[in-house]
Amino acid sequence: MTENDPIGWEFLDKAGTFSLPDPQYSNYLYFPLANEAGIFSSITPTLNGDIKADQNTFLSMPVSVEDLHNSRAARNFWVYVEGVGPWSVTGNSAAQLSTKFTGADTEQVTLEAGFLWQRILRQNSHIGLQAEVVNFVPAGPDKVELMKVTLTNLSDHSLHVFPTAAIPIFGRSAENLRDHRHVTSLLHRIRMHRNGVITCPTLSFDERGHQPNQVAYAVFGATGEGYAPQGFFPVVEDFIGGGGTLDWPEAVVQNLPAPAHSGDRLDGYEVLGGLRFKDEQLASGASKSYVLIQAILDSSEESDRLVEQYGRADLFDDWLLKTKLDWHQKLDALSFHTGDSRFDGWMRWVTLQPILRRLFGNSYLPYHDYGRGGRGWRDLWQDILSLLLMQPGNVGEMLFGNFGGVRIDGSNATIIGSQPGEFKADRNNIPRVWMDHGAWPFLTTRLYIDQTGDLAFLLRPQVYFKDHLVERTRSVDQAWHPDQGTLLKTASGDVYQGTILEHILIQHLTPFFNVGEHNNILLEGADWNDAMDMGRHRGESVAFTAFYASNLRQLSMLVLALKQIGAWQVELAEEITILIDRLGQPVNYDSVTDKQTLLKRYYTRVNHTLTGKKIAIRLVDLAADLSAKAGWLFAHLRSHEWVTDGEGNGWFNGYYDDDGQRVEGDHPLGVRMTLTGQVFALMGGIASDDQVGQVVRSADRYLYDPAVGGYRLNTNFGAVLLNLGRAFGFAFGHKENGAMFSHMAVMYASALYQRGLASEGYKVLEGIYRHCQDFGKSRMYPGLPEYINPKGRGLYPYLTGSASWYLLTMVTQVFGVRGRMGDLELSPGLVTAQFDQNGEAGIITLFANQKLEVVYHNPHKLDFGNYRITAIEITHQSVNLKAGETPVIPRADLAALPSGQVHRIDVYLDTK
Ligand code: G1P
Repeated sequence: MTENDPIGWEFLDKAGTFSLPDPQYSNYLYFPLANEAGIFSSITPTLNGDIKADQNTFLSMPVSVEDLHNSRAARNFWVYVEGVGPWSVTGNSAAQLSTKFTGADTEQVTLEAGFLWQRILRQNSHIGLQAEVVNFVPAGPDKVELMKVTLTNLSDHSLHVFPTAAIPIFGRSAENLRDHRHVTSLLHRIRMHRNGVITCPTLSFDERGHQPNQVAYAVFGATGEGYAPQGFFPVVEDFIGGGGTLDWPEAVVQNLPAPAHSGDRLDGYEVLGGLRFKDEQLASGASKSYVLIQAILDSSEESDRLVEQYGRADLFDDWLLKTKLDWHQKLDALSFHTGDSRFDGWMRWVTLQPILRRLFGNSYLPYHDYGRGGRGWRDLWQDILSLLLMQPGNVGEMLFGNFGGVRIDGSNATIIGSQPGEFKADRNNIPRVWMDHGAWPFLTTRLYIDQTGDLAFLLRPQVYFKDHLVERTRSVDQAWHPDQGTLLKTASGDVYQGTILEHILIQHLTPFFNVGEHNNILLEGADWNDAMDMGRHRGESVAFTAFYASNLRQLSMLVLALKQIGAWQVELAEEITILIDRLGQPVNYDSVTDKQTLLKRYYTRVNHTLTGKKIAIRLVDLAADLSAKAGWLFAHLRSHEWVTDGEGNGWFNGYYDDDGQRVEGDHPLGVRMTLTGQVFALMGGIASDDQVGQVVRSADRYLYDPAVGGYRLNTNFGAVLLNLGRAFGFAFGHKENGAMFSHMAVMYASALYQRGLASEGYKVLEGIYRHCQDFGKSRMYPGLPEYINPKGRGLYPYLTGSASWYLLTMVTQVFGVRGRMGDLELSPGLVTAQFDQNGEAGIITLFANQKLEVVYHNPHKLDFGNYRITAIEITHQSVNLKAGETPVIPRADLAALPSGQVHRIDVYLDTK
């Protein structure tokens, strides 16, 4: 078996547990382990990976993907077998590794994984020994990763074994990997606990300066029965011996006795969680277990409690069960039943992903080696999309808190604290505005209002973020001083608050006027594509101009809907009325200069403080202004930004570069087209029906590539575009330069469904799934990757915003289970292939604080477009339907159902 012909993973049950044979023959695989207490692990089939709590608190050595096969600092566990020699139960001995390509491999390995645990079963037919290694992070308040090794003698004679855990403890900040690696080892203060090795470095060296350190790092161990190890190897260099390595350590190879014992102390070396357990005569068929506790402790005082709580095989098993239940409870909030049970299981892993993104952000997994914790503004809002479907309880408050990061110039704080609604001033002085940032909050807020009916949310007062950066970071407020705090104030020194609606308005009105020479919104630091970052002066993002345009149109309608809660006017800061020009002196929207002049006037007024004076504006007047702006943008985009190629295909231009040149269309180096440029024009209704058809044809012509699972982000521009972005420095087909980038591809699918093109949308979603679930191509565990590279491999698994969008699209478009101002609308976009053999397809989801199971019955297997809803029953009571209208179930009817149970809604489909 080589890497070239792997057998894929299979699901073992409906809960999503899967198994993969020979996982050790696929590099780059890793699995996440984590809990809400804030410990994050990555683990490979050979137990490589790392364990950490944040950027400055790494229990094991920080790893990038290449380290997964290069580093020997894994969660090693050795057995010295008398008469045979050393054997690594994790497959990490030099001897085992060297058999990989010689055909001399005598080991059979299978991986199993579930929510959220990994089990490796390794059998060595030569020795006749089997090792089962299970790892998980227990659900609960402790920052620990647990590991249990169970040895079983499969031979017909007894084996004399000497077990040794050998887990290196890095015990410091990730920064110290390159910065003072050796010097920081001198900080270690190592103590032998009865059950293991603890280090509590004296200081922590990181960007905060040298601070006294309180955090301790430990590896504790016990036999399955709870007996402590016999002795310890606390220092890496002593354990490996002269000329030895962690994959051929002298202490194991020579079967040396452990030099340290409980109570011993030692300072100033690279630490090893080296634990020697008592040797055993393992009879034929007998088993013996060892439990390891890898811990990050706020104080070493906690050690005894941790050992008591986890340090036995039965305790380990109990915690594993509790942890599985905890994860299943989280995931059961949303599940799917279609004609493809493999897809349903795969979706369970996609459902996990937004939860992982909430925990990890974009950091702490091997591909995400740039992340230092925290999360970006865009991701903050994207992740809430799926939380609204899975954990809607406190999402309103989360949303509300996030709006506190908006600046009065329409930009936002980029340094986001760990507490909800906590934002920090950018003291690193890296002024950058991502021009798309203002558009996402409204999209999420609109979904929130549709799912909950909470229109009053728009009228809640909230603060604004303030720091030295003004005019969307083009200038600095000299009068601002950090001591003033980060809240916008009035001239009299009071903290200013405006409604959420006011925040949203500013986020849309400032970009509307912030245009470049082609009258599209300036690209500024970048848009959704973080790597479109070299068009800061003249670059324009037509793609996101379309997003803002459709938001403005929807906002104009939402403003009018406020009448439903008795409002007929809103109060806004007087300064903001400058941006609502239709109220006073209308600006000529065709004039770039007039727009920029108006914006400058606004910036000047809001540079340091506001007056605090508010002006009441009638909703109809506000709506008219927004609608005028949207109307202008729609017409502009449709007529000015439509491009065609020599073959008569048409699509939308998405960008202008820093030289003011249009990016898309025919080009001497090959046709240039981006998917981003199409998605928002489609989604927002800017593309006419005819244009939608043309865009789909052009995307199929230029971007579709089944070898990478679907639609690429762009065609090959064939040049390093220094006037557009670093993306074009990446090789073509990788990441933001033309990969199948899941996030944008899924948003494209969503846009197609929203335009009534279910079959086309299905092609996108299905294509991504088909590719990902084919292990031979994607080389990944179940789930969505950020992108597919030219080899077909899925990269950056687990932490990607695309998972949120995939779920959102499945729920609200494919199953069509969606809120409409708080009521439940049912409008499926299912195609024939998605129904099971009985013609049924179902979804369990949360709505109106109820758990609902919506089951569509399509006995004639009609395809989308050929069916309509003919009857609906809620728990077998039929619902009255209005002919010709999309069925809507009033929220009150659902809220009135008894709580705490799953309510079934049967929906019957028949010919139109
Ligand atoms: C990542 C970022 C996302 C960004 C995208 C494109 O996508 O998280 O904010 O818009 O790259 O640059 P993700 O990994 O979430 O799919």
